Amino acid sequence: MSAASAVPVPVASPVRSASARRDGAPAADERIGLEGIAEAIAASGDRFVESLYARFFTLCPDARPIFGEHSISEQEEMVAETFRAIVAWVDGEPRLATNLDALGESHVEYGVEDAMYRPFVDALVETAASCAGQDEASPGIRMLRESLEVITTRMSVSGHGRPNA
Ligand code: HEM
Repeated sequence: MSAASAVPVPVASPVRSASARRDGAPAADERIGLEGIAEAIAASGDRFVESLYARFFTLCPDARPIFGEHSISEQEEMVAETFRAIVAWVDGEPRLATNLDALGESHVEYGVEDAMYRPFVDALVETAASCAGQDEASPGIRMLRESLEVITTRMSVSGHGRPNA
């Protein structure tokens, strides 16, 4: 499976966070930016996942041994779930918070530490920006980072009772 199928970026929905609704609908430049990111990731297929994890493990070497030796499918599932959570956040999906709480707790059992969420967000944002040929200050990339920060903060607080580092 590639991450591509997991990135249907909704463009017309109100934007909300996992714990609180974000004010207002996405601006046109944010919508266009997110669409561009989704299309670029879809076009790159499995290369996106490979590049993301290479970058993540460079930024956070301690995360590498937590994944099993043959964990490609788990890594793909994690990226797919991350994009499902982004879509749910944009859509204001009410079950998102509960799902993130469960994920936060399961990740503690995997051995994930709070400090690992930040490099994951950085790696994902950098890989997406590079893949889409967008500047990290562009509206779509900024919105991507915002959604990831909400998602990982929720997971971190659920898992360890405090925000990610
Ligand atoms: C946006 C943040 C993240 C999301 C949405 C996410 C989601 C997921 C999902 C859905 C799975 C599949 C198993 C399950 O449902 O529990 C998974 C597995 C896993 N995740 Fe994450 N994850 C995130 C961040 C991280 C980070 C920062 C790490 C740090 C190392 C991590 C480590 C793992 C590990 C070790 C597994 C199990 C892989 C295996 O079985 O070998 N995750 N993740």
